[in-house]
Formats: sequence, structure tokens, C-alpha cells
Amino acid sequence: GIDERLADLLGRMTLEEKVGQVMQLDARGGVEGPILERHVGSLLHASAERLQEARRLVEQTRLRIPLIIGDDCIHGHSFFEGATIFPVQLGMATTFDTEMARRIARAAAEEVSTTGIHWTFSPVLCIARDTRWGRVDETFGEDPYLIGEMGSAMVRGYQGGSAMEGELPRDAILATAKHFAGYSETQGGRDASEADLSHRKLRSWFLPPFERMAREGCASFMMGYQSIDGIPVTINDWLLNQVLRGEWGYSGTLVTDWDNVGRMVWEQKVEPDYTHAAAAAVKAGNDLIMNTPGFYEGALDALCQGLLSEEELDQAVSRVLALKFRLGLFEDPRLPDLERQRAVIGSEEHQELNLEAARESVVLLKNDGLLPLSGGDGSASGARRIAVVGPLADDAQTQLGDWAGGSGQCDWIDSQPRRMITTILDGLREQVPDGWQVDYAPGARILNLVDDPEGPTYPDGQPRPKIAAPAPADPELIAQAVEVAQRSDVVIAVVGDVIQLVGEGCSTATLELYGDQKDLLDALAATGKPMVVVLMSSKPLILPPSGLAAQAILWQPSPGMKGGQALAEIVLGLTGPSGRLPITFPRHAGQLPVYYNQVRGQHGNRYADLTQDPLWAFGEGLSYTTFSYGKPELDGPAQVGADDVLHLSLPVTNSGERPGTELVQLYVSDLVTSVSWAGRELKGFQRVDLEPGQTKRVVFDLPVSECTIVDASGDRVVEPGEFQALLGHSSRMDDLQSVTFTVR
Ligand code: IFM
Repeated sequence: GIDERLADLLGRMTLEEKVGQVMQLDARGGVEGPILERHVGSLLHASAERLQEARRLVEQTRLRIPLIIGDDCIHGHSFFEGATIFPVQLGMATTFDTEMARRIARAAAEEVSTTGIHWTFSPVLCIARDTRWGRVDETFGEDPYLIGEMGSAMVRGYQGGSAMEGELPRDAILATAKHFAGYSETQGGRDASEADLSHRKLRSWFLPPFERMAREGCASFMMGYQSIDGIPVTINDWLLNQVLRGEWGYSGTLVTDWDNVGRMVWEQKVEPDYTHAAAAAVKAGNDLIMNTPGFYEGALDALCQGLLSEEELDQAVSRVLALKFRLGLFEDPRLPDLERQRAVIGSEEHQELNLEAARESVVLLKNDGLLPLSGGDGSASGARRIAVVGPLADDAQTQLGDWAGGSGQCDWIDSQPRRMITTILDGLREQVPDGWQVDYAPGARILNLVDDPEGPTYPDGQPRPKIAAPAPADPELIAQAVEVAQRSDVVIAVVGDVIQLVGEGCSTATLELYGDQKDLLDALAATGKPMVVVLMSSKPLILPPSGLAAQAILWQPSPGMKGGQALAEIVLGLTGPSGRLPITFPRHAGQLPVYYNQVRGQHGNRYADLTQDPLWAFGEGLSYTTFSYGKPELDGPAQVGADDVLHLSLPVTNSGERPGTELVQLYVSDLVTSVSWAGRELKGFQRVDLEPGQTKRVVFDLPVSECTIVDASGDRVVEPGEFQALLGHSSRMDDLQSVTFTVR
């Protein structure tokens, strides 16, 4: 059995080999030193060439312990030439389609597993509340229930349905729940800042999605960078031991984030040196230390000084080795498999799945009747000219999003061939009806990258990151765009943020459009031509009045390779929009945080100088048809016990002229609570396809045990009393109808 093999191997390892086994180093810095001198157990960011070299080197080691290879393949394989890139997580969340999330993770695992990578650092379960944060695109948005549903679907997809025990299928990869926990709860949106979170607040909103992943058998958890109440997560005994290992009984592997151990010394300054930091991290229960080269000397020194015992180290070594046994790496190191690669990497089937997901992910936010531009059947009355304008209409990189070949976080590689990508411009050119014409002008430049004299310095001599500066206004570019617009019947303006404004360490102080995109929209609006604004952005951005006044507005978070085709289909009416907002759109950055499930008790509904009401609320999104709702009903008694299940239903009708998909949402409001609590919380959702005139009865089974709050002592409980189930089109009260029930 595994236990005997593990004990045998552990008994034969030297202290140096054990310390190396719990280290994961960046393969881009070379693999010979890490493998031969530091005995590392794991690598990340390893190209195919590096993997080959690593394999040869492992053969030269004394015990030939196979490496486990991890990476950030978080919406497809991030750096493999020709691999399929799917929508970023936020774009998966707009679909509210858990089966779609599972299929995407499955397809990604099929591709990634052929390339010698065993383990992905995905899904991200952070709650995006302060959207100045740079990593909003990597999240499923702002709602813990939605995050839990989508996240667990992805874990099932990656791991091929296999949970913690048992062998992992060949076409599966291990998943990681990250970043445990509260990493997104930044100060001022600034990445990795201390999170101001009480234990109760963590238990209320931030921990539940993680608890679901633990139950789902997610193979690993990644420790966030930040501190909570002064204690870095890396050494946070309450989080790691009391909650995760203790209460949830989690037995998977804990990996730190990038150099968390070093950061405790050089950045957070809670440990005096690497010796103490290494000891503290292992004692706290971390199993694998990501990219802290100094951990090697630090841990050996800590063992020597008695700050760390060999038994404590063995615990971590065992968990890393257990992963390797579980993957069967000792028998078969799961090396790159060229034959399978040819069959699955960027396969037609996966491209089609990308297209399907991208179609579902587009959110129609406004439509004064301009869209769709054609009847959808290719028929068109007379030739029409479309002006496609804007810096993102033909920007393949931003369309792929972060963590995809050549992007901010993957800038060491350029791997997705342009021919595989359909930008919005390509999509429109390919799909307009015969006789239509598409003209294009970029219209604006978004930014320049410049040196930052105040930027952080890194101990390992890495260059300071450059920062974004708005590109100087270019009146010539805008004039060209205006000319193209004036010659057209309709303008499609594609604006948003570019990849350099997105990602780790790339939070933004503002949410307005960058560069001279505002000037461009103003100039286009002044032509008086009907305008569709397409916002391709990593997070909700603030459009200027000229943009908001456009006849139609669509939002598309980075949709992946085929995103432009999906968008063009929707604009032209070949497909209807069905995406909904997993995150609130503010009117102004000053409204942040503006998420829908705020704790009750705020005065009024306005600032002295602005309403508090968001521009577009969680769950909102339009279709090319209309839907009407009948009265919701409770099937069963209105007095229930905490163990009962409520059966709620309501009829939904497509009251318009086109087929469409409605997202029917269920929220619960606990009317009086012992502590202040959210006014309503999402507890269910269903995508419902309806033909014109068709009615379906939508049924929700709601376990009363889901209607909980976290009380003053931190316990999650159902409090007896009156509740409302709220059903309807979005989180706005005006869109919801209620059914009252009482819990005994
Ligand atoms: O997995 C990531 C994490 O999300 C942020 N820091 C770096 C890790 C590895 O690339």
C-alpha cells in the first residue's frame, strides 16, 4: 500500500532531500541547480524543453523521486502553443452555467495533462468586492454561493470526478482552491494588502466557497499572500489548523503562494530571517513552499538549531509524496504525450466549446432596440456599413486575458497563434450578411509602459515592473475614427482595459476608461450615428456619459480565442445574449464596495452627492426577447423545520418574439436576525431556454439548512422565525417576488 511505500521512502531520505522535496521552484531560472543541488520535489512554469531536461536530471539523483509539475492553467493551458484559451473565470461566471464551467475545466485538463503538467492552480474562489483590485477577472465575481457552485464544478472537471482518494485518471489534473482565504479583501484595492477580516466575517462570506472545495475533494489549497489581523495566512494557525485541517478535516496538500515564506522576511517583516520563516511555515502546516529558494538553507538551519523537528518536516514531505503516489508518478511520471497532444490541444471540439462559452458569457446591459443589427437569418434590407472602432476591436491579447500566452503573467512566452483567434473585427467581417461592409479604425491608444522610479525593488535583482501611463491623446487617430463613423450606418465601439492594467500587482486606482478612449467615445457620439458600445474589460469599468448614452451596451470579459466570433454573432442576431452580471457595476468608483449582499443598516440609499444605487445590479442582463413571471408558489406547508426542504416554483414565459434564455434567480432573506446580516442572499439559479410564447414552470428545492447566518459566537445556524424566498430576474428588489415561510 501507499503507506508502506511512503514510510520506506521517507526512511531512506536524507534531511537535505526532505527539505528539497517540499520546495517548488520556478523552472524559468534553470532546473539543474534546483534538482541536483537542492533536490526539489516540484517545478512550476516549466516549458516543454525544461521538462525534458528536468526528466534527465531526475535520473541522475540518488532516489529518482519523480517531480510534480504545477502551473496556472486557469482558463486553458496558459503557455502551450495552440492550446485552447477559454473565457477568464469572470467570463465563465457571467454564464451562470455550472455545467459549462465543468466542461471547460475538463477540456483544459485534457489538454494540460498531455503536456507533462499534473496540477493546476485553479479555481480562484476570492470574492471580488473592491474592484480596483487587479485580479477581479480571475474570480467568479462577488457572490459566495455562485463562487461555490462554479468552483466545485471546475474541480470536478479538472480532477475528472475523482476526489481526494484513489487514482487520478490520465486525462485529469489536480486542482487548487485559492487563495485561502480573504486575499481579495484588500485595502484600497491594493494587491496583497492586509485583509481587515474578523473570524466571523470570514466564516460568513469568505470561507464557505473553500469549505465546499474541501468537501469536493479538491487536491490542494493555496495560501494567500496577505495577513489577516496581523498574521500572514502562511502561518495562520487558526485558518490552517483549526478551520481547514480541524473543522473541515481536510487532508489534501497545502501550497504557499509565490515566495510567501521569503515575504515574511523581506516584505511583511514578521520573521527575522529565512531560518525562522522556514520553520514557522512548516510548523504551521504548509506542505509545499512555492518559489522561495532561500527556504533550503533556512530549513536546514532551522533543523540544526532545533527550531524545526524532523517529524514536523516529515509531515509535509509525506503529503507531497502522497500526491505523487496518488498520481502514480513513480510508475509513470506522466510525461508529455505527443500523440494525445496532437489529438486534443486546440482541438476543434475545444474551440467549439470556447465559442459556446463565449456566446453564453456576453451580457447585454442596454438596448434601445438597435440590436440585433440584422434579422439573424442573413437577410438584410439594403447594404449596411458598419464602422468598427476602438483599440480593443482587434486586440487578440486582451481578448485571451491574463494567464494566457504572452499576457502580463505569462510574458515569457508567445504561444497562441493569431490565426486561431477571432477578434471582434474578424468576427464581424466574417459574419455580416452579403452586401454589408465593415470599416475599421483603432481610434485611440490606451497606454504606454514607462519606468516607475518609485517601484518596488526585489531582493533577487529582478527588474522593477514598468507601470502604465495613459497614452498621449492622438487627435489624428480619433479623426480617422470619426471619418469612418461618418461614412457608416452604425458604429460599434470596442473599449475597455488592456492586459497591462490587469493582474497580480496591477490594481488600478480608478475605474474610468484609460487613455483617450473617453475622447474617442465623445467624438463618436458627436457624429450622431447610432452606436453600440462593447466593453471588453477585466472588471466593471465606468463609461463616460457619451458611452452610457449609446443605444446599446454589451459587456464581454476576456472571452478567449473565439470570443470575437461570439460577440459578432450576438450583435448580428445570429445568437441571443444570455449572460448575467456576477458582479455589480458601480456608477462611480467612490461607491465601492457596492456588492448586492451588503449587511443591512445603512442610512438611506444615497451619498450626499450621489445615489448609492449601482448602475447595473448583480444578476442583471437583457435578452433580445422579454420574459414575464407568474406568481411564485410554495408546494407544501409554510411552517417548516430546519431539516425540511422547501419546494418553490413559478411560471416564466417568453413574452417576446425571439427565442431566449432567462436566468431565474432565487434569493433568501431572513427577516430578523440576531446579528446584522445581508438583506438577501443568492441560494439558487437556473438557466431556462424558452421559445416565443412558451411558458415553463421553474422549480427550486431549497433545503432550509441553507438559510443560515453566522451568529455572534461564529456558529452557522438557522435561526427560527420568518423568512422570504425571493424569486425573479435579478437581485434588484423590483425584479423579485416573494413567498413567506416560517422556520420553527
Ligand atoms: O498561482 C499563482 C498565484 O495565483 C499568484 N502568485 C503566483 C502563483 C504561481 O504563478
